[in-house]
Amino acid sequence: MLETAALIHPLRLGRLLLAGNLVLAPMHHHSHLALRLLCRREGAALAHTEMVTPEDLLAVRPVWAGPGRKADHVLASTPQDRPLGVQLLPRDAGPLAESVAMLAERGAADLVDLNFACPSRRVVADGRGGALLRSADLALELVEAAVRASHLPVTLKMRLGFTDAAADRDRALAIARDAASAGAAAVTLHARTVGQGYGGRADWTTIARWAETLPIPVFGSGDLRSAEAVLAMLRQTCCAGAGIARGALGAPWIFRQVRQRAAGEIPAPVERRERRETLLEHFDGLAAQFGEDRAVRLMRVLGKYYARGIPGAPKARAALQAASSAAAFRRTVHEWFQDA
Ligand SMILES: Cc1cc2nc3c(=O)[nH]c(=O)nc-3n(C[C@H](O)[C@H](O)[C@H](O)COP(=O)(O)O)c2cc1C
Repeated sequence: MLETAALIHPLRLGRLLLAGNLVLAPMHHHSHLALRLLCRREGAALAHTEMVTPEDLLAVRPVWAGPGRKADHVLASTPQDRPLGVQLLPRDAGPLAESVAMLAERGAADLVDLNFACPSRRVVADGRGGALLRSADLALELVEAAVRASHLPVTLKMRLGFTDAAADRDRALAIARDAASAGAAAVTLHARTVGQGYGGRADWTTIARWAETLPIPVFGSGDLRSAEAVLAMLRQTCCAGAGIARGALGAPWIFRQVRQRAAGEIPAPVERRERRETLLEHFDGLAAQFGEDRAVRLMRVLGKYYARGIPGAPKARAALQAASSAAAFRRTVHEWFQDA
C-alpha cells in the first residue's frame, strides 16, 4: 500500500507538468474565475472552466452586442489562473478542431478537456456530453480532431457508461483506450453512469480498474466531499489524481486539507472568520467580472455552500439568497459569519 504522503505528487499530462495531482473539476455555472483562484491558492494544481460548446466559443456576436464572442466570459482568466483546462462540449469535429486551434493561438488554455459525461437531458438530446458514450466511432473522431488541432494536451471527462449494462460499461472503457491510442493525455472518470446523474454512490472500484488498464493517467471523480474521502479514493484506486467538484463548493480549503492530511497533520477546523473572508472574496471576484448586481444573483446559488455546517445554516442560506444588493449581501455575510 502507498504511503499517504506519496498519494500527492506532481504529474505530467503530455507536455504539461502539473505541480500536484489535485484538480478542480469543471462545474457548469459554478467554476468561474473567482472560485478557480480561491482553489488554486489552497493548492489545486489545475482548474477547469465550466463546459462550453465549441460553437458558442466561436460564435462572434453581432457588432451591436458589443465586443467579444458569445462565451467569452468562460475564458476570462488572469496570469494566476494557470494552468487552465478549458472544457469543451463537442458534437462535430469541424467546430471542435477550430475552437481548439483558436484556444491554442490565443494562449487561452493549457489543456483542452472533452466532455463525454454531461447527463443533462438537453445536452444528451443534442448528441453531446454523455450521449457520446453511446457513439464510440464519433467519440474517437472527436478525440482525433482535437489532438490534431494544436499542441495542447487533450483530456477526456467520462462516466462509467451510458447505463449500467455491461455492454455500455465495456464501450466506455474501449472509448478511453482508443482515445489514449489517439493521443489523449489523461481521462477523468466520474464514477457514475450517465443515467445516474449526480445521485447514488460513485463506484471507485471501476476507477481502480481503469487506472490499472489504461496507459494514460486516470483522475478519479465522484463523492470527494472531504479531504479524508479524497485520500481514501486515491489510496483505494491507485489512480493518478483527484478531480474535486462539490467538495470544493463553499470549501476551497479542501485542497489544503488534503495536503495537510497527506502530510500526517490534522487540519484545524475552519473558523467563521475564514468562511466569511473567503465568501466575501468570492463575491468580490464575481463582482469584478460580472458587476455587483449579477454577483448578488450568482451568490443566490453559490453563497449557500459556505453556510454548510454553521449554526443556523438554513436561516443563513435563506438570508444570503434574499439579499437584493451588494450592500445587503455584505451585511448579511457579516451578520451570519461573525467570529464566534
Ligand atoms: C453544479 C455542477 C456542475 C457540473 N458541471 C460539469 C461540467 O460543466 N462539466 C463536467 O465535466 N462535469 C461537471 N460536473 C461534474 C463534476 O465535475 C464531478 O465530476 C461530479 O460532480 C462528481 O464529483 P462529486 O460527487 O465529488 O461532486 C458538475 C457537477 C456539479 C455538481
